[in-house]
Amino acid sequence: MKRFDSTVTELQPVASDYFRITFQWPVTLPLPQPGCFLTVSAGSGFDPALRRPFAFSDVDPARGTAAFIFQRRGRGTAWLAERRPGDSLDVLGPLGAGFRAPPSGARPVLVAGGIGLGPMLFLARQLHQTAAAGRNEVPILVLGYRSASQAPSVDLPPGSVICTDDGMRGFHGSAVAYLDQLADALPPYYYACGPVAMMAAIDRLAAARAGQADWQAATEQWMACGVGACQGCVIPFKDGGFKRCCADGPVFNGRMVDWVGLQE
Ligand SMILES: Cc1cc2nc3c(=O)[nH]c(=O)nc-3n(C[C@H](O)[C@H](O)[C@H](O)COP(=O)(O)OP(=O)(O)OC[C@H]3O[C@@H](n4cnc5c(N)ncnc54)[C@H](O)[C@@H]3O)c2cc1C
Ligand code: FES
Repeated sequence: MKRFDSTVTELQPVASDYFRITFQWPVTLPLPQPGCFLTVSAGSGFDPALRRPFAFSDVDPARGTAAFIFQRRGRGTAWLAERRPGDSLDVLGPLGAGFRAPPSGARPVLVAGGIGLGPMLFLARQLHQTAAAGRNEVPILVLGYRSASQAPSVDLPPGSVICTDDGMRGFHGSAVAYLDQLADALPPYYYACGPVAMMAAIDRLAAARAGQADWQAATEQWMACGVGACQGCVIPFKDGGFKRCCADGPVFNGRMVDWVGLQE
C-alpha cells in the first residue's frame, strides 16, 4: 500500500452517470488484484476531507495503468467525473483482501448490481484467463440493472448476461431471478458485489443449494480512515461479531455476513 500522485489517462462514460477512470499505476507497486480497492482524494485540497473508496475494475501492466468504474452520486464522484487526461489524482492503494480462487469442479457465477460492476468485471476477465489455462471452470457474469439506461457499454466477457428490471435489455427481471432459473450441470460457486438486498438474496440462494453455501462477497461500507485504524467501516457477522470492511475485507465469505443486520 502506498499513497502517490498519479495522472489520469482517460475518463470514459460507460452508462448514464457511470464512468470509467484510468490512471497511471507505478511499476514499483504490486499489481492490484480483483476485489482489492483504492482510496482517492476526491476534491481540491482538504475538501471533502474523507478519501473515497473504489474497487479496481482492471489493470494493464503493459501500459502501466489501472482503472475503476464509478457512479456519480455526491460531491466526490461529481469532482471525479470532471477529471480529464493529464489531471493529477491522489491515490492510496492497493488496499484490502481480494477474491480467492473458486473450488475445483464448480461453476464460478459472478453477480454484479449497480456499482458492483467494476470488481466483478475484473474478476470475470481474470477467471476467463485462468479457465483457458485449465485452472477453473469458465465463469458466468450476470449483471443486474433497474433500467436499460444503467446497463454499461463496456466489453463484457463471452457468456455474460445483462438483466434489467424493466425488461428493455437482456433478461427481464433481477439478476437473482435469472440465477434462480439457471440450469447448469455444474454446481454454482457465487461471487457478488452490489446492493445489500441483492447480497442477502444471493445468500439465501447459496444456502438453498446443499454444499454450496460458501460464497464470496465484496462488501462496501462507509469508510473514514480506510486503513483499519478507526472501526468506522464495521460489517456485522451472523456470529454476533464485527469485521472491518477496509482491513479485514472487503471480500468476505458471504455466508458469514449478517445481511439482515447490514440492511437495518
Ligand atoms: C470497498 C469499497 C469499494 C467501492 N467501490 C466502488 C466502485 O467500484 N464504484 C463506485 O461507484 N462506488 C464504489 N464504492 C462506493 C463509493 O465509495 C461511494 O459511492 C463514494 O464514496 C461516494 O462519494 P461522493 O462524495 O460522491 O458521495 P457522498 O456525497 O459522500 O454520498 C453520496 C451517497 O453515496 C453513498 N456512499 C458514500 N460513501 C460511501 C461508502 N464509503 N460506501 C458506500 N456508500 C457510500 C451514500 O449512500 C450517499 O448517499 C465503494 C465503496 C467501498 C467501501
Ligand atoms: S475505515 Fe477506519 S477502520 Fe475501516
